[in-house]
Amino acid sequence: MFDYVLFGSIAYILGSIPTAVWVGRAKYGVDVREHGSKNAGATNTFRVLGKKAGKVVLTVDIIKGALAVLMPFFVSQYAWATDDLIHLQLTAGICAVLGHVFPLFAGFKGGKGVATSLGVIIGLHPLTALICLGLFLVVFIASSFVSLGAITAAIAFPLVLHFVFDNHNVALTVFSIVLGLAVVITHKKNIKRLLKGEENKMSLFAKKDK
Ligand code: G3P
Repeated sequence: MFDYVLFGSIAYILGSIPTAVWVGRAKYGVDVREHGSKNAGATNTFRVLGKKAGKVVLTVDIIKGALAVLMPFFVSQYAWATDDLIHLQLTAGICAVLGHVFPLFAGFKGGKGVATSLGVIIGLHPLTALICLGLFLVVFIASSFVSLGAITAAIAFPLVLHFVFDNHNVALTVFSIVLGLAVVITHKKNIKRLLKGEENKMSLFAKKDK
C-alpha cells in the first residue's frame, strides 16, 4: 500500500509540472491559458508561442508520463521489491495524467493529457505507443485537426492493446479504456467545435515561430 501512495503521489506531482504555463510565463511573459484554445498543452503552445516553445512543452510533457510509469520499474529493479509492478505502474500513469489535467502548481487548470498519456504508454508498451502515434499523425496530417488525431489515438489505445498485441491483462485493459475515455472527455469542447465545423486547424509543416 505504501508503494501505491508513494508512486501515485510522485507521479501526480510530476504530472502537475505545468510546462506550458511555466515556459509561456518565464520565456514569453504569456499565460497560454489566456490565448488560442486556452489549453495549457503542447498544441496550444505551438499555436500561441511557436515551434521552439511547443517542442519543449511536448518533450517535457511526454517525459513526465514516461518517467512516472518507469519509476516503479527502476525502483523494483535497483532499490527495493515493490508491490505488484504492473498495478503500481498503472496507478502512477493515471496519477501523472491527473496531475497534468489538474496541476497542483497551476490552480488545477492544466492540459488535456495527450502528451503525458503518450509518455505513459511509451513507458508501459512502446509498440502500442508507436502505433497510436502513427494513427495520430495520419489523422492529424489528413485533417489538420490535432484534436481529431488525439481523439482517434485515444480510442485506438485499448483496441490496439487488445487486438494487435492480444493483451488479456484485466488491469491493463481497464486502464487503457479509462485513459482513452479520459482523453476523449478532456476534448469535449474540441468535439463540439469539430461537429460545428469550427475547430482550429493546424499544419504540421507550418514554419511560423516566435
Ligand atoms: O493536445 C491537445 C489537442 O488535442 C487539442 O489542443 O489546444 O487545439 O484544444 P487544442
